[in-house]
Amino acid sequence: MRKQLVLGNWKMNGALAFNARLIEDLMQGIADGDSGCEVGVCVPFIYVAQVGEALGGSTVRLGVQDISAHTEGAYTGEISAKMASEFGVSFALVGHSERRIYHHESAEIVGVKALRCLEAGITPVVCVGETLDEREMNETNHVVERQLTAVLDCLGVEDATRIVIAYEPVWAIGTGRSASAGQAQETHAFLRQVLDTRSSSLSDVPVLYGGSVKSSSAADLLRQSDVDGGLVGGASLHAGELAAIVAAMPRRTSQAR
Ligand code: PGA
Repeated sequence: MRKQLVLGNWKMNGALAFNARLIEDLMQGIADGDSGCEVGVCVPFIYVAQVGEALGGSTVRLGVQDISAHTEGAYTGEISAKMASEFGVSFALVGHSERRIYHHESAEIVGVKALRCLEAGITPVVCVGETLDEREMNETNHVVERQLTAVLDCLGVEDATRIVIAYEPVWAIGTGRSASAGQAQETHAFLRQVLDTRSSSLSDVPVLYGGSVKSSSAADLLRQSDVDGGLVGGASLHAGELAAIVAAMPRRTSQAR
């Protein structure tokens, strides 16, 4: 059965006092609601130690928003997967559209980053998604397939069983305009097809949806059969919102795909 997952992406937000409060409220907010779904927060690197300590023995997992494509050495400003794993990081976003667009990360670099994560025991959350122009030109499937294939080519099947995918249409990120549940389901089903074509052993790779997910839209999106959870940006800066999104995650029975 595919894992269900809700991850917050703080992006470049936070401050020591704000983070302490947010984590405390979040741990309280989701403590009672055992939804059977894993929860994590992807924080700026500089807060990894603070948030890791604040999370303590909580079930909320610690994540980061990027990782270096290099293992170590003369790469000023970079942080390796091995360094992150020493601080208890379990997830790393790779290929977020803000990195692809503002930092010119190629599909191949994203594949190498995913590989570095796996080598260090970190789960890479591979983000894929099309721009508005690409959607309007009917290129969504082509774009997400190319982005995913570059990562799968870099990893090989065995390693690829350990990734998570996040479908994040670029036009839905931070715009308040989420994809409709139908649009999300359609692309998720296509991504499942790409995985199946590569290998039947990739059938348990979770595919999350991201892009303006809020508590008000979560239930509709998360109930789609090929949507295994959410990657939540803006709303994850409000503990109550993230907790409500986690609570909206439908429980799956073992019969569910
Ligand atoms: P958003 O961001 O929820 O603020 O749209 C999602 C993301 O970029 O991961």
